[in-house]
Amino acid sequence: MDSADVRDDLVKVLFTEDQILAKVKELAERIEKDYDGKDLLIVGVLKGAVMVMSDLARAFSRHVEMDWMAVSSYGSGTKSSGVVRILKDLDGDIHGKHVLVVDEIVDTGLTLSWLTSNLSSRGPASVEIATLLRKPDAQQMPIEVKYVGWDIPNEFVVGYGLDYQERYRNLRDIGTLASHVYS
Ligand code: IMP
Ligand code: MG
Repeated sequence: MDSADVRDDLVKVLFTEDQILAKVKELAERIEKDYDGKDLLIVGVLKGAVMVMSDLARAFSRHVEMDWMAVSSYGSGTKSSGVVRILKDLDGDIHGKHVLVVDEIVDTGLTLSWLTSNLSSRGPASVEIATLLRKPDAQQMPIEVKYVGWDIPNEFVVGYGLDYQERYRNLRDIGTLASHVYS
């Protein structure tokens, strides 16, 4: 039987809402500095990046354009399939633009390495990656993630956009799930 409150299934809180907002603000300041004098398009990877996109965009005092892509690389479980499919492409042309892909987590890096090479083939001025979280496996991929909030251990986490079977995205904190949820 499901618990009524989304917070009840968390076994450990890794990052609180306040810590997350402070970290996003810190990333926003670095990004503002680096893209000073340049137009910037941030591209959110649906659905997980919804929260970090919304907080990052509002942490900027500069102008920024937002667009979205949806790709699938995961089934409904906790393991990467390695297969990437575009479910929703960008609305706009990125030719000549400075593109910053925003994601909530890089695990194996398969999704973003595929995505950034796909975007690079469309003639942008630049393509970089910002992620709130990064897991250890990502360091084995030839993928450069310019902005990382936190490096975390190889644990499955939920909250702040991160889901387990489409649930828990609306948790304000980020944490790990109790094992009874998986069984
Ligand atoms: P990657 O291709 O292995 O880097 O995985 C990318 C996607 O897998 C992320 O954007 C998430 O949607 C999902 N993912 C990876 N690790 C986790 C996790 O710990 N919790 C929830 N989703 C995850
Ligand atoms: Mg994602």
